[in-house]
Amino acid sequence: MSATNVVVVTGAGGFLASLVARALLEDTLTPNIRLILTDVIQPKNPAAGGATDPEHVLTIKADLTDPKEIDALFNTPFGIPDTVYCMHGIMSRGSEDNFDFGLKVNADSVRDLLQASRRYGTQLGKPIRFVFTSSCAVYGGPLPHMITPETIATPEGAYGLAKLSSELFINEFSRRGLIDGRILRLPTIVVRPGPPAAAASSFLSGIIREPLKGVEATCPMGTSISSPELDLPVWLSSPQTVIRNLIHAKHIPSSAFPSHTRVVCAPGFTATVRHEIDALRQVGGEEALKLIKFEDDPPTKRLVDSWPQRFDNTYALSLGFTIDEGGMIPIVDRFKKDVEAGIA
Ligand SMILES: NC(=O)c1ccc[n+]([C@@H]2O[C@H](COP(=O)([O-])OP(=O)(O)OC[C@H]3O[C@@H](n4cnc5c(N)ncnc54)[C@H](O)[C@@H]3O)[C@@H](O)[C@H]2O)c1
Repeated sequence: MSATNVVVVTGAGGFLASLVARALLEDTLTPNIRLILTDVIQPKNPAAGGATDPEHVLTIKADLTDPKEIDALFNTPFGIPDTVYCMHGIMSRGSEDNFDFGLKVNADSVRDLLQASRRYGTQLGKPIRFVFTSSCAVYGGPLPHMITPETIATPEGAYGLAKLSSELFINEFSRRGLIDGRILRLPTIVVRPGPPAAAASSFLSGIIREPLKGVEATCPMGTSISSPELDLPVWLSSPQTVIRNLIHAKHIPSSAFPSHTRVVCAPGFTATVRHEIDALRQVGGEEALKLIKFEDDPPTKRLVDSWPQRFDNTYALSLGFTIDEGGMIPIVDRFKKDVEAGIA
């Protein structure tokens, strides 16, 4: 059995994929959606209590390092999905600390999911749309002042390696018409709600999130508010913009991509850690600022310093992706409102 607008979302117990699931339910371009949400932890049903019939959503607890569990996603009562959002993974710090496990989840299981999409796409009679969340961690080594689509990605870490190798498979599978891939290299996302993540970039959200909740946060860059380390630029996007762009990725016609690559660097903006802190002062006041403690951690600084800081957004914008306007202040302001509303 097959149907249209049947969408699998992996990593659906996590931060971004759970937001993508909600956004898909509201996506007018994906009417009558049947959503299959899966994660190694039991995902929540976002339709519960909402406008969509909860029976239009299946939640499946599955470990995607097991190909049988991948196969089961294509054999639900909803039929063969026409779209897969591949968003599960072990984040940067986690996959550096546990190299083999990181590769198993971030590379091997993605390849198994791709092969399953290829097989079931044949049964469906059209290539399955495969949306993949990649990362700027694919870049390493000496980088130009600004990253363009022509900049060669040479990762220096297990996380970036796994992302880049998955990208190469998705490109070639798409070129052969085995799947219909869309790859978004995401900027660092601020402000991420919830507890700190196992990512080296976690503090970039923590120094906003914790103080706005009245809790102390540690900044691993510099020793005080006047430290020069705070002038380090980072490449950022808000969660709202990233989610909008991930939904848009599904709807771009495949003819819009060149034959050799489905990679798009999702639009972002450059801000320094100091810009973040200034936005916190403006939105949360001096009281919030006092909750940031500085504990200089040179390895974190080295890592953050190695990340690309500026990208040319032209290609992404030409494909209809969108960008945050107004820098950090509107982002911090929105997060403060979410905290006040009890939803962050
Ligand atoms: N948040 C960011 O700043 C950012 C930046 C770049 C790329 N990304 C990518 O976006 C995606 C989502 O990121 P996130 O921040 O929501 O991460 P997250 O850690 O919140 O979610 C990842 C989910 O994957 C699940 N998972 C891990 N191993 C699994 C397995 N074997 N089987 C099934 N599920 C498994 C985890 O349980 C978790 O719920 C990831 O692919 C990540 O690499 C995120």
